[in-house]
Amino acid sequence: MIFVKSHGFSVPALGFGTFRMKGEECAKAVENALHVGFRHLDTAEIYDNETAVAQGIAAARIARRELFITTKAWMDDMSPAGLRKSLDASLKALQTDYVDLWLIHWPNPKFKIEVTLAAMQEEVDAGRVRALGVSNFPAVLFERAAKAAPILCNQVEYHPYLAQDKVIAAARKHDAFVMAYAPLGIGKVHDDAALAGIGAAYGKTAAQVALRWFVQRPGVGAIPKASSREHCAKNFDIFDFSLTDEEMKTIHGLARGERMIEPDFGPKWDT
Ligand SMILES: NC(=O)c1ccc[n+]([C@@H]2O[C@H](COP(=O)([O-])OP(=O)(O)OC[C@H]3O[C@@H](n4cnc5c(N)ncnc54)[C@H](OP(=O)(O)O)[C@@H]3O)[C@@H](O)[C@H]2O)c1
Repeated sequence: MIFVKSHGFSVPALGFGTFRMKGEECAKAVENALHVGFRHLDTAEIYDNETAVAQGIAAARIARRELFITTKAWMDDMSPAGLRKSLDASLKALQTDYVDLWLIHWPNPKFKIEVTLAAMQEEVDAGRVRALGVSNFPAVLFERAAKAAPILCNQVEYHPYLAQDKVIAAARKHDAFVMAYAPLGIGKVHDDAALAGIGAAYGKTAAQVALRWFVQRPGVGAIPKASSREHCAKNFDIFDFSLTDEEMKTIHGLARGERMIEPDFGPKWDT
């Protein structure tokens, strides 16, 4: 495993995403992921699958201390009372006393970020959360957050078709890492000829090449989701080869500004 480091934490650079999975499907996928070797799990209160994530962990019989669990508070719950309620619900569903990383899921201009982070920091002080982070924060807003509290990471959409140079630079400046969501372009990279071409020399698929590209860079990680055991195992099988500088550059060159997750309530990305 490769780790990303921030504020004294060492976090598995490759995590397992659980969005769009619920109930038994989610529990089984989490159990598979843990058997394959994943130790970093990504969920969110809004995914309505934290109970299933806990069931998957219980089935895999992995000790809590071996896991790095990230969850997220929804953007409407950014008041101190809303945050407390959201964390209560997440901890109950996840059947744990603490989460390793607690993220603001999307920025919400209705709430002052400094007030939100101060309330979140109280949960760190109370031992219910080990570290704080944000998600979907453009660089300028990220910098504002990082001045208000120690921020471990910014989780953003990031795949070979969407560059995130500004976001990465802002994170590095504040000792934070960037966690790539939708790292496989929601499955799209699977058919990429350039990635498949690079992978052929190593006996790896296009998706494996994309994941290797993330974890090979300092301060960057990725959380691919896979409901099938086959995909899940393949996604973890990326630690026995390295991409050359030239190949890394080629993958960087595939960026074409393609954003796949752009809800109405999302931020303006040109800042
Ligand atoms: N913070 C946020 O706002 C936010 C937003 C979106 C996502 N996320 C997080 O990021 C995680 C990943 O994003 P995502 O689920 O949207 O997309 P993704 O990981 O880029 O893609 C998932 C898709 O790729 C397929 N796949 C997985 N491994 C594959 C492989 N080795 N070869 C070919 N296809 C493969 C999966 O198929 P199968 O399922 O059939 O195996 C699924 O259809 C989410 O689960 C969630 O935890 C966060």
